[in-house]
Order: sequence, then structure tokens, then C-alpha cells
Amino acid sequence: MTFQTIVPIHPRVQTYLQSPRKLLINNEWVEAASGETFATYDPSNGSVLAHCARGGLEDVDRAVKAARAAFEGEWQRVTPAERAKLLWRLADLIEAHADQLAQLEALNNGKSYMGAKRGDVVWSADHFRYYAGLATKIEGNTIPVSVPQHLNYTLREPIGVCGLITPWNFPLEIAAWKLAPALACGNCVILKPAEQTPLSALYLGELVLEAGFPAGVVNIVTGFGDEAGVALTHHPDVDKISFTGSTEVARKIIAASAGNIKRLSLELGGKSPCIIFSDSDVETAAERAAFGLFGNSGQSCVAAARIYAERSVYERVLERVVDVAQGLTIGAGMADPQPDIGPLISERQLGRVLGYVQSGIAQGAQVCTGGGRALEPPLAEGYFVRPTVFTNTKPEMAIVREEIFGPVAIVEPFDSFETVIRAANDSPYGLAASIWTRDLSKAHRAAAALKAGTVWINTYGMFDPASPFGGYKQSGYGREMGAAAIELYTQLKSVWIAL
Ligand code: NAI
Ligand code: MG
Repeated sequence: MTFQTIVPIHPRVQTYLQSPRKLLINNEWVEAASGETFATYDPSNGSVLAHCARGGLEDVDRAVKAARAAFEGEWQRVTPAERAKLLWRLADLIEAHADQLAQLEALNNGKSYMGAKRGDVVWSADHFRYYAGLATKIEGNTIPVSVPQHLNYTLREPIGVCGLITPWNFPLEIAAWKLAPALACGNCVILKPAEQTPLSALYLGELVLEAGFPAGVVNIVTGFGDEAGVALTHHPDVDKISFTGSTEVARKIIAASAGNIKRLSLELGGKSPCIIFSDSDVETAAERAAFGLFGNSGQSCVAAARIYAERSVYERVLERVVDVAQGLTIGAGMADPQPDIGPLISERQLGRVLGYVQSGIAQGAQVCTGGGRALEPPLAEGYFVRPTVFTNTKPEMAIVREEIFGPVAIVEPFDSFETVIRAANDSPYGLAASIWTRDLSKAHRAAAALKAGTVWINTYGMFDPASPFGGYKQSGYGREMGAAAIELYTQLKSVWIAL
């Protein structure tokens, strides 16, 4: 194992990486039933970072049994106020272990350590606190039925055993998006982190134990999508799956859910448009669009993947986006000084992203900057791609239609409100969109016309635990965050009483 890092690695992280990480089942760290492990990597240099238990069918089954027993047993006796305390304690522990979590995220995902510490870790703690607050406010209603001499009310009850399947782009944060509301609502869970980035979720498991959650409430099974993931989505005693990842895998999960009619919530890909009108603060708009795309190396479901600039400001926008792209520093998440952007997650993603860049070039799109790997030492060992900007694209090109999930921007001019809204909506996805204008009426008309789950006006990439997030069209269904997530992790019971 070689570390080409300059930020000193926290001693606890060093120890953590030295021995194979196990599965968390029923509050015990256990090996996979098969005894097998898999390697997890540092994408900045391709070296093996650690080994983790390779969870499979038998392990998932064990975890589901533990979760079911806890759900029918001890977890029932934990009051909402006690759940709130546990969640709050977990948030405090996340903050107390911010360095370790941020370093694991930087080493395993490639994103910057300081960025993860100020961003991902803080947001994750905030998330647990928000749902700690909601745990005591999950209410039913009394219903004014017209049937004489009857009382009708609703109980909002947990769903039961929930499988939470997370991706590698924001490993800790997306785990928090799912764990916090699921637990606040009184469910028991099996978390299946992405095979590329299991380490921060496993470390969170240590904090779950320290916080004092009863056995079986939180289980973590690491492993591959087609093994542990498939076992979880097909398991007859899992009541619900919450998934963030590719639309392709979502289709498989929908099919798998048919067996026992699992509840599903799905947060999938995007190809989010960013519309810059000439009457906006054009410089700021272009800069924010560029950072909205290149941030996290473009590996973000809300990346500003299609930037549309009104023709009179198109040159300025293009120039500014190119400037930003050329000014970004590239390096490992633990490099000192800290780079603006890191590597892609894997060799496979590198191949995917470069394939899109090649297809754009082959189909005649113009590369304004970037267009390939960053190969100067020591970057050649990792999966680094130069921030790339395309123009002169056509709406039918793969780079315009498909989610690239890399630092590849597309900047195109537009001539009217109607044409740009049509272009923006011409996508199978509908996760987010942004509009830049000083014209209030235009902003609200565009917000209403855009088919996207989130619309940002004169800003980009804003999130808050209180604000619902999710997709239109093939970007998925269900809304995470905010009170909306209560719907994802509860079911409603209607109770009738003759008076
Ligand atoms: P993926 O959808 O295969 O992986 C996401 C999670 O699903 C991982 O935990 C994986 O182990 C699990 N998984 C994979 N196959 C499964 C199956 N058959 N059953 C159950 N679970 C399964 O995503 P992948 O292959 O890593 O990335 C491919 C593309 O997906 C990316 O290029 C990007 O376009 C998109 N993506 C979107 C994300 C988002 O935030 N919406 C996150 C990750 C990927
Ligand atoms: Mg996949």
C-alpha cells in the first residue's frame, strides 16, 4: 500500500485501514459467511486502500433476520424521544470524528479532505439532527368522516425492515439522507454501501454502536451490487428499498420488488440544465454553473451538465466556463495544498467518461478545453480527467442526452425563452435545473415550466435537510429530505371506532 499523500493521515484512520473491515450485523462486527473479502481502492493512484468483507446472500439474510427481530422486539419499546436522542448523539459523534470520516472519504472517493470535512461531514451531522427533531413529530390525523357515530383516525407507522443502497459519489452524506429519516420513523435498516467506497459507512457503524442503538436496528453489509445488492432487493422479508444510483440498476430493483411488493424510493441520474439569460449577473452565473458542473469532478447527480446561454452573452459565458475549467487544480483528496477537483472513482468510470469525450469529438462537437486524461506525474497513476468544455453540440448527441458523471461541460447558445425551455426539458431525466435572470416574472415562469424536482433561481446546488429533493421522469420517485421523507419511511393506518 503506497500513500502519495501529504496531509498526515490520522492515526485512527491508519489503524482502520490495516485490518480487513467486517460486516455490522446485530451490533457485532462479523466476517462474511464465505470468509471472502474484496479490495477497496484509492482512486488517486489505484492502490489498494483496505479490504472489506464480501457480503452475500447468507450475510444479507442474517442481517435481515437481525433487523426483523429488533423491529418486532426492542426497537418497539424505544420511544420517539429516545430515538431523537440516539440520532442527536450520532450527529455529535460524527462531528467529533470529522477528521477521520473526512480522511476516509478523501482516500476512498478521491474528493478533497477539507472539502469533505467542511461539506459532507457537516451536512451528514446536520441531517441526523434535523430528523432527531422530526422523530417526535410524526403524527396521524383525526378524520371528519360522515358516517354517523364513528370515529376515524390515522396512525403513521414505520414500514419495517428497510434496505438502503447507496452510491460512491457522496458516500457518507447519502447514507445519512437515508439512515436519518428511516430511523427517526422507527424502522430497522440494512445499509449496503457502494463497493467502491464502503469505508466511511463502516466507520459510521462504529459510531452507531457508540451512540447506543439497540442490536439489529442498524446493520451494514458491504459487498457488490450483483451479490449483496441483489440479495437485499430480492429478499422476501425486506419491506422497502431506498436506492440512489443509476437508472439502469433502478429498473432491476423495480423488477425485484415485484416478489413481495416492496416499497421503493429511487433517486437516479440527471442531466440538469442551467439557463443563463442575458439580463442576469452573467459572470456569477457562468462561474456558478462551472463549479456546479466541475464540483466533485462532475460526479454529482445534480451536475450542471447542460449550460444554455442567451446568444448575446454566450461568448462571455463560454469564456468564463473555460477560464474556470483551466484554473481548477487537480490532485488527490489528501494532497497539500488541497486541489479543487479529484480523480474519477474508478478505472471503469474513467473509461466511461473518456468514451463520452471521444464520442463528442467523433460526432463533431468542438472541444474548447480539456478533452482527455490529466497525465502529469503523479496524476497518471490515478483516474484524473481534465475539466473539459464542449460547444457546437447537437441535441441528439450522446454527450447532450446521457449522464456523463465526469468533468465535462456543454455550453450552447439559445435565442428565446420558449426554445430554451423546450431544450431544457428535452431529456429523459428531470432531477434539477437552474435559471439565471433578474426578471422576476421570467424566473417564475421558467420555474413552473421546467420538468425537474429542484429548480434553483440565481443560485446553484443549494441543499438543506429541510428541503425536499428528488426527481421527475427517469430521475426517480419519492422525495428525500424534509418532512417529505417521512412519507418514504412510514405507512398510514386508518382506525375506525363505533361510538
Ligand atoms: P450503480 O447504480 O451500479 O451503483 C449504485 C449502488 O447500487 C451501489 O451500491 C451498487 O453496489 C448497487 N447495485 C449495483 N447493481 C445492483 C443490483 N443489480 N441490485 C442492487 N444493487 C445494485 O452505479 P455505478 O455502476 O457505480 O455507476 C454507473 C452510472 O450510474 C454513473 O456513471 C452515473 O451516471 C450513475 N450514478 C448516479 C448516481 C446518483 O447520484 N444519482 C450515483 C452513482 C451512479
Ligand atoms: Mg453499476
